[in-house]
Amino acid sequence: MELFFVPLFSSLVLFVFFCFLLLFYKNNKWRSSGAPLPPGQTGWPFIGESYEFLSTGWKGYPEKFIFDRIAKHSSNVFKTSILGEHAAVFCGAACNKFLFSNENKLVQAWWPDSVNKVFPSSTQTSSKEEAIKMRKMLPNFLKPDALQRYVGTMDSIARRHFESGWDNKNEIVVFPLAKTYTFWIACKLFVSVEEPSQVAKLLEPFSAIASGIISVPIDLPGTPFNSAIKSSKRIREMLWKIIKQRKIDLAEGKASPTQDILSHMLLTSDENGKFMSELDIADKILGLLIGGHDTASSACTFVVKFLAELPEIYDGVYKEQMEIVKSKGPGELLNWDDIQKMKYSWNVACEVLRLAPPLQGGFREVLTDFSYNGFSIPKGWKIYWTANSTHRNSEVFPEPLKFDPSRFEGTGPPPFTFVPFGGGPRMCPGKEYARLEILVFIHNLVKRYKWEKIIPDEKIIVNPMPIPAKGLPIRLFPHKA
Ligand code: HEM
Repeated sequence: MELFFVPLFSSLVLFVFFCFLLLFYKNNKWRSSGAPLPPGQTGWPFIGESYEFLSTGWKGYPEKFIFDRIAKHSSNVFKTSILGEHAAVFCGAACNKFLFSNENKLVQAWWPDSVNKVFPSSTQTSSKEEAIKMRKMLPNFLKPDALQRYVGTMDSIARRHFESGWDNKNEIVVFPLAKTYTFWIACKLFVSVEEPSQVAKLLEPFSAIASGIISVPIDLPGTPFNSAIKSSKRIREMLWKIIKQRKIDLAEGKASPTQDILSHMLLTSDENGKFMSELDIADKILGLLIGGHDTASSACTFVVKFLAELPEIYDGVYKEQMEIVKSKGPGELLNWDDIQKMKYSWNVACEVLRLAPPLQGGFREVLTDFSYNGFSIPKGWKIYWTANSTHRNSEVFPEPLKFDPSRFEGTGPPPFTFVPFGGGPRMCPGKEYARLEILVFIHNLVKRYKWEKIIPDEKIIVNPMPIPAKGLPIRLFPHKA
């Protein structure tokens, strides 16, 4: 009888041992490289640490999610689970450099599943492949000589915007107006739509999209994710009508082949001679309108906020912009040379982008197992890089909360520390375009007014872009003529 139990018991012990081994391996504590996984917690099943990740932003301090964990684990790389994915968060300049230099080697661009659902591509390819197509298309539209032509257009839209939305008002709310401004410019330059009522009709469904993209992807009535999907469908339908009309206008010679990015997309074929479908173009323009207006409107809003709080910085910007005003004839629009003179104003805008980066960071997908800083990063995991990990780090930017545009004088901050536009091959292709529209905004703003905040300590919400909770109401004091 005993002889029967010995092998049974040994088998049981072996079985339990292998189960532990499997569990240990599955928990990724011990990888082929021999290195452990980064420290950190993966939270609840599926939800993981998404709530902590998102809610620190809703409370206005998204950097808390990162800095708490860096302190807890004494590591610039930690693991978590967000938006339904195993992820490693990479913090600091060395991590940024590593990620941005290993694009398409160890990592590639990745968006949460929610993005593919909000923007289901008409071509049935992933958002990743669509982004590659878009990157090829954009340089033509955003190249320096094209950008130079936009300065005058942006200035004339800015003038109309300030005349209709700000002039003759004692009090205004900045954020909705900044959105109208950047959206108006995008509509004009991307699809030649400039009639205010048509711009307003297109803008209306956009507000639901940004917060739905970075959310827990639960598609039930009333969830942010659900409203984002519905809104993106509505906008795509409107864009589709504009595209159809443009095709007719191009055929009848009523529209120019170079008038905007829409004509460019309709008339440019890929290397195989294939043209993009109308639905595909609608997807691309939708992506550009989102990428191109929400980010810049957040930046413009924070310019207004910081200039209201810091009179000496306002004075510096005012002085620089008034020199430009004085150098121009009556009614003469801004040009490229004027933009080059706005050095101090751009340093101020950079300091705004450091303290309130419109995008908090970005995701990558791991293409192959690799080790970094002694930790194993498994294939298939997602990596999240974050702007605040350097922007608000006192070792990189001493007194990080102090608003100090002189940080950008001379050669400026060390490489990979100031990353509001990302870095490496995926760096924002709209960076220069954004610089122009922010500077044109600043010019038109300070030459008209001084202002003060109506709510002195208005809360900031980051969802996913930073915005003052009440939209930044201000009281305007126009300069005397
Ligand atoms: C202040 C304004 C802006 C900021 C802060 C900003 C920031 C960023 C960042 C951080 C990325 C890279 C994300 C990553 O590494 O994963 C990015 C990508 C991108 N941005 Fe911007 N952006 C701005 C304005 C614009 C504008 C005006 C446009 C279009 C005209 C634009 C179009 C794009 C596109 C298409 C991508 C994706 C590039 C790719 O996947 O290769 N952005 N932006």
